[in-house]
Amino acid sequence: MDSINPTPLTARRAGPLQGRVRVPGDKSISHRALILGALAVGETAITGLLEGEDVHRTADAMRALGSEVERTADGLWRVRGVGVGGFVSPKATLDLGNSGTGCRLVIGAVAGNPVTASFDGDASLRKRPMGRVLEPLQRMGAKVIAVAEQGRLPLTIAGARDPMPIDYEPPVPSAQLKSAVLLAGLGAPGETTVLEAEATRDHTEKMLKHFGASIRVKPVGSHDRGRRIVLQGQPELEAAPVTVPADPSSAAFPLVAALLVPGSELVLEAVMTNPLRTGLYTTLREMGAQIETLETRSDGGEEIADLRVKAGPLKGVDVPADRAPSMIDEYPILAVAAAFAEGRTVMRGLSELRVKESDRLAATAEMLRVNGVDVEIQGDDLIVNGKGRAQGGGIVATHMDHRLAMSALMMGLASEQPVQADDTAFIATSFPDFTGLMRSLGADLS
Ligand code: S3P
Repeated sequence: MDSINPTPLTARRAGPLQGRVRVPGDKSISHRALILGALAVGETAITGLLEGEDVHRTADAMRALGSEVERTADGLWRVRGVGVGGFVSPKATLDLGNSGTGCRLVIGAVAGNPVTASFDGDASLRKRPMGRVLEPLQRMGAKVIAVAEQGRLPLTIAGARDPMPIDYEPPVPSAQLKSAVLLAGLGAPGETTVLEAEATRDHTEKMLKHFGASIRVKPVGSHDRGRRIVLQGQPELEAAPVTVPADPSSAAFPLVAALLVPGSELVLEAVMTNPLRTGLYTTLREMGAQIETLETRSDGGEEIADLRVKAGPLKGVDVPADRAPSMIDEYPILAVAAAFAEGRTVMRGLSELRVKESDRLAATAEMLRVNGVDVEIQGDDLIVNGKGRAQGGGIVATHMDHRLAMSALMMGLASEQPVQADDTAFIATSFPDFTGLMRSLGADLS
């Protein structure tokens, strides 16, 4: 609990969850729409933008860098871009709040412009590694003017006057790292190449194409698990309308709750089903979950579907490490599902969870432990011995982490005793009105 005014909330067992809802817009796509809109020439209209704290911070950063960003109605935003290389130096520090994505992507975008900018964030973001993004950006010509110990925020960088294209192999599977290099590469002449050993979410690549950049993506490596991405620098990005689909990482919370609360049945509308984001859905189906794909369609290069989910028994499974990039944000809520499954669930290869909004590996295990679940961490693996039920009754420490808070509450809806999240203030970073939406489906949250 680190808020100035922490907002605890308790979830209790009640009747089944029922209804048809659309969760807010995808966070990853929302950040990218604002950033690419700001780097394009002309006016980009965005529909369904996530109006969460994280995305507001990115909108503010784009304004400070010289673009015009305007909210015209609920979820409808207009961005008048400055063109590639057209950013101006902001007058004040860019405060990205709780958002690793906003921070790392904006650092990348700034690195390809001849401007100087300072970055900061909240206590959670100040603990997260930024050195991983600074390293390739320095190779491209950006200069680090100041940085806190261990490559952390606050930091100041001077973008490159003449950015150089590089060939880059990210040392960890990270869409943020890849995107930072591609955004900096927009300012460089020639080809910037990113070689990913394991494919991560490809929204930046898709949206760059949508805005008219020339970008080639080829599957590489064993079982085509990797990607070679080649971006032709110095394109004229042209403003293009963006429709933001519902966020599969947010849909995961009501979806898992509906699987666990007996008698529940929900339809989740217009959920993005990009295969690099849907590892949770694959895993839940392997556990025996009834998740039906209703109507499917596509928009702006992203696949979308309505999903129907019904409560039912789950069984423990082995989740391979190579699935982690496609469900990296979903382990806390999967761990809750695993607690209610029968048998052992092993979630492998979770080292990246240690550097999220909190140390999510430790915090997820602790969330289950305080609610009477048999859980252990072995190396980078999380192991849950599910008993088909959970006792509950715990107070969960959420560590400024929205996804831990939402996972804890979903657990309380199905546990024998209520579960309290010690602070739900950070839910607003990604899922405004989470409580209202869950209550409209029948959840008891107070
Ligand atoms: C994101 C990438 C992921 C994810 C984050 C959003 C993105 O982070 O955890 O919530 O939009 O690129 P990493 O790239 O650090 O894995």
